[in-house]
Amino acid sequence: MSLSLPEEAARRRTFAIISHPDAGKTTLTENLLLAGGAIRLAGQVAARGERRRTSSDWMKIERDRGISVSASVMTFEHEGNMFNLLDTPGHEDFSEDTYRTLTAADSAIMVLDAAKGIEPQTLKLFEVCRLRDIPIITFVNKMDREAQDPFDILEEVQEKLALDVAPLYWPAASGNRFAGMKDLRTGEFCLFKKLAADSKEHPDAAERIKMDGSNSLADRVDPSVLEELELTAELAADGLPEFDHQSYLEGHMTPVIFGSALRHFGVHELLSAIGEFAPPPRPQKAEVKGNEKVIERDDKQVTGFIFKIQANMDPNHRDRVGFFRISSGEFKRGMKLKTSSGKLLNVHNPMMFLAQDREIADQAYPGDVIGIPNHGALRVGDALSESGDVKFAGIPNFAPELLRRARVKDPMKQKHLKKALESLAEEGVTQLFRPSIGSDMIVGAVGALQFEVMKERVAAEYGLEVEFETAPYNVARWISGDADKLDAFMDKNKSQSGTDLDGDPVYLGKDSWDANYTMDKNPDLRFTTTKERL
Ligand code: G4P
Repeated sequence: MSLSLPEEAARRRTFAIISHPDAGKTTLTENLLLAGGAIRLAGQVAARGERRRTSSDWMKIERDRGISVSASVMTFEHEGNMFNLLDTPGHEDFSEDTYRTLTAADSAIMVLDAAKGIEPQTLKLFEVCRLRDIPIITFVNKMDREAQDPFDILEEVQEKLALDVAPLYWPAASGNRFAGMKDLRTGEFCLFKKLAADSKEHPDAAERIKMDGSNSLADRVDPSVLEELELTAELAADGLPEFDHQSYLEGHMTPVIFGSALRHFGVHELLSAIGEFAPPPRPQKAEVKGNEKVIERDDKQVTGFIFKIQANMDPNHRDRVGFFRISSGEFKRGMKLKTSSGKLLNVHNPMMFLAQDREIADQAYPGDVIGIPNHGALRVGDALSESGDVKFAGIPNFAPELLRRARVKDPMKQKHLKKALESLAEEGVTQLFRPSIGSDMIVGAVGALQFEVMKERVAAEYGLEVEFETAPYNVARWISGDADKLDAFMDKNKSQSGTDLDGDPVYLGKDSWDANYTMDKNPDLRFTTTKERL
């Protein structure tokens, strides 16, 4: 029997995983898909990755450096819920991309390495979640290795993130002595079955054993570990707050689960917690016909926004896929959607991303992400709706911290390079500026690694050899204000201005001293480090 729009929307859980590189995000992703029945054997996500890599050379940089550059989405159904797991790039140079992906998530899983606790990138990503009031479930990973004292880990979360911590489980030792964890809500013991990392066996969920002395638990778990667990779990139950669902939803409290992604432990418990506690698609603030409005997931009209563009998923076809996160309504294949600037799209071939495949999506609901193939009509931040008069706030472009002049080795190929850079800039990973004077193309990025990725991609996808040289500018700011004053400024400062990919005016300064001086001199204009796309 088919479900109604409110029922479908209410069973969606759209979430992202945030972590510091190496904490275990990839391993956890794979094991969540495994626990959710989306893949049969751990290792298949990577295996599929391998296949894709052979067809797309730029992935080489991911393989060489062990980082994942592009974000994607994986959809699976489990215990009546539909999960949309948004994958975020882990490397710090790609934080802007990650930021945008988080705008499409309703909640997040924070993965911590049990030996390392909060690391710099965790903190940065957490701050993005806090900015958007995204509730967080914490997964303390790698308990099968020597870990910090759980009280210390939780205290660090509490202090560094100013979050109340409520353990749902309490671990029994760590490393070689790791035996499992106690479910603090039911009082049961979840037994850790030590499997080899490459074991084909993967238990559905941990075996649960009552801790009331009525069974042989003591035969199966080192008594000294059990004794220690009884003591520390009692301290935890007494000293730490009880889980409060409302407080979690408001972003004040994080429930904590311990486990080992690599050994398939705690992953089912995490998935159940996401199903039970994580919020379904949240209301979205929007502007409709110039009026502020809140779009609710059950609203009839299909609305949503593009949070990511990926070009050349298939290098032979020069395709572009816009990742569309649905905010309201029931989407049907073949629907006509409009951007707020009036562009009309017939969505004939929307894609759904399953763990191992892409499929044509006949229907999709709030919380879902579908890929819309297009030839450059869509930009990151575009709102799409049936009526065409909906705008969403809050998907910013950030001023790049590094600017480089792009130069192609073969001067005859200048036009080709322009096309390649424009198309890659449309993905939003890098930015492209055209100074008012001359024919330079200035590429801006948040981190240096992005230039390497660009170089590889321009070579692999366009057959061009590009160099990124020092540019005469180091600072970029978007300029806005009264049209006449803006024109006058652009006219007077031709050597220090230009336009971005959308043709919007940009100030290009030598350094921050230069920028501050110019800003002081032009108090009527606004110079901003972010540009919100509306
Ligand atoms: P990331 O995506 O957050 O960067 O982390 P990833 O999953 O790639 O994990 C980083 C390393 O930590 C990997 O080891 C992985 O096997 C290991 N790991 C992940 N979860 C656990 C766990 O629960 N317990 C233990 N002991 N290790 C874990 P690697 O040696 O860097 O890579 P690999 O050669 O094993 O793939």
